Amino acid sequence: METFAAIVKRQSIRKFKADPIPQDVLEKILTAATLAPSGKNKQPWKFYVVRGEKRAEMMVEMQKGMDRLGSQGINTGSARYTLRVLEQAPVTIFVFNPTSRHPLLPRDRLEVYADLVDVQSVGAAIENMLLAATDLGVGSLWICDVYFGYEELCAWLGEKGEMIAAVSLSYADHQPRPGPRKPVADVTVYVE
Ligand SMILES: Cc1cc2nc3c(=O)[nH]c(=O)nc-3n(C[C@H](O)[C@H](O)[C@H](O)COP(=O)(O)O)c2cc1C
Repeated sequence: METFAAIVKRQSIRKFKADPIPQDVLEKILTAATLAPSGKNKQPWKFYVVRGEKRAEMMVEMQKGMDRLGSQGINTGSARYTLRVLEQAPVTIFVFNPTSRHPLLPRDRLEVYADLVDVQSVGAAIENMLLAATDLGVGSLWICDVYFGYEELCAWLGEKGEMIAAVSLSYADHQPRPGPRKPVADVTVYVE
């Protein structure tokens, strides 16, 4: 598939088939992630692939986190819907920046700068995953609602770095209508 065609075709998939993703397809998606550009070529990423019976444990940890925040009066809103996607997807990949720390810990200026660079690098890796998945006929959803289970999921995975996002993957069981986009002219300023 042409790159631009994959960019146009990629959509967030929230209904997945139960079919497993073949290992070679999964490895190609992960390889695409590691080929992303990164600030100073630091490659500040680490991937935890959750599948099989471990998915049930993931759901328990996510729910625990949401309950904890809910009991503190924090609105976990959309995460309830994302939970359903996580539950269906045969594969969910947690993406960490292992060189950083919990996002709510205080940081000095240089650490903030480094984290800003790193989060862009990890974002590039995630987008590469989504585009590679599209190219391979695999549906995907980029998920940040996992923040609502942040502490529980990190402890469960045994990772002390910064959790950036999760990506659920599988074959799509629906074809969503494309979401609206701001016209290029509205978001572009030519300075000349
Ligand atoms: C950083 C980021 C975080 C996102 N987190 C979630 C999420 O937690 N749950 C969800 O259902 N969708 C999530 N999405 C998907 C967006 O809702 C989706 O990309 C957007 O609505 C545009 O739709 P499209 O991806 O089909 O073009 C996220 C997307 C991005 C880029």
